[in-house]
Amino acid sequence: MKIGVLVSGRGSNLQALIDSSRIKKMLAVVISNKPGVLALERAQKAGIPVEVLEANKGEKREAYDQRLASLLQRYQIELVVLAGFMRVLSPSFVSLFKNRIINIHPSLLPSFPGLEAQKQALEAGVSTSGCTVHFVDEGCDTGSVILQKEVPVKPDDTVETLSARILIEEHKLLPKVVDLLARNKVKVIGRKVEIEE
Ligand code: GAR
Repeated sequence: MKIGVLVSGRGSNLQALIDSSRIKKMLAVVISNKPGVLALERAQKAGIPVEVLEANKGEKREAYDQRLASLLQRYQIELVVLAGFMRVLSPSFVSLFKNRIINIHPSLLPSFPGLEAQKQALEAGVSTSGCTVHFVDEGCDTGSVILQKEVPVKPDDTVETLSARILIEEHKLLPKVVDLLARNKVKVIGRKVEIEE
């Protein structure tokens, strides 16, 4: 399976994919919407082709996503992994790659979608948060959940300490889901996901 990873920044989740030798072989391209980010360095170091696709000034979301889709198709990408990719994808892009785009999010969805999920969890006063890998649909973090992992929230947590504790689990969860998808163990029935193991 040819995988394209979309990134915007640090790329620690990308690194977790690179660190799995089985998955690394499938990483066909890493695309960043921002130049000069650490994620690109990580990909280059691992010998994975990289592309920077910046949005042009005033460019409509659909136009950007069309360029993104063409780039992914040029690499014959079958699975798109959003690993800290901080752009919302348009419905036409999502339908082009239906059930072939996954995202990692630092909360137990449907709680705390969107930006600053860890801060939202702290402000809500929950005692448990976590991370979710889900299929991407037309909404913001609303697609079917594939797998989740719970993480405790401690009374003295800051955004930094909670984020770090969740990140450790993200780095296990994302490769696990990618491996399941690569082995065709994930079935989508309507909105529900079944894992065959
Ligand atoms: C991760 O915590 C990821 O879950 C989050 O951004 C971080 C990226 O870190 N994604 C979102 O919040 C998406 N809504 P990384 O670049 O080191 O993988």
